[in-house]
Amino acid sequence: MRLLRAAITPRTKIVYLPTPNNPTGTANSAAEVEAFARDLPPHVLLCVDEAYAEFLDPSAVPDLRPLIAAGRNILCCRTFSKIYGLAGLRVGYGYGPKPLIDLLQRARQPFNVNAIAQAAAPPRSTTRITSTARAPSTPRVETSRRWSAKTRP
Ligand SMILES: Cc1ncc(COP(=O)(O)O)c(C=O)c1O
Repeated sequence: MRLLRAAITPRTKIVYLPTPNNPTGTANSAAEVEAFARDLPPHVLLCVDEAYAEFLDPSAVPDLRPLIAAGRNILCCRTFSKIYGLAGLRVGYGYGPKPLIDLLQRARQPFNVNAIAQAAAPPRSTTRITSTARAPSTPRVETSRRWSAKTRP
């Protein structure tokens, strides 16, 4: 994180931080990510890829919502492809300050989540930003667990 911070210049536009990272599996601590986000200069957008967040102990998941609520330039991205076993359906969500979400909404392609992905995605009520890997035990998760147990070498 120290080196990443040192690499930021006035010309830096986006810092992309996948934590936990794929394929190394390494994760920064919640405190490290929160401090890093707090210290970023305002001209930089921090994009935190939280694709594997649900596999962490919930206490280890950074909570950037207070900074986002304060209008900081932060976008967090989540996918359902890992925790719900929906790889390839390209369905998930992001959260960030309203002006940034408004911009993304204007730039995104129409119908960018197809009908199959929408049908497979968990209902809104079961998705939580700080959800746990002791994944919600829905039939979909159970099927996906059985499938990965069978196919894992
Ligand atoms: C760290 C990370 N972010 C994002 C993605 C993309 O997820 P999706 O399947 O929703 O495109 C992956 C998928 O491999 C990933 O490993």
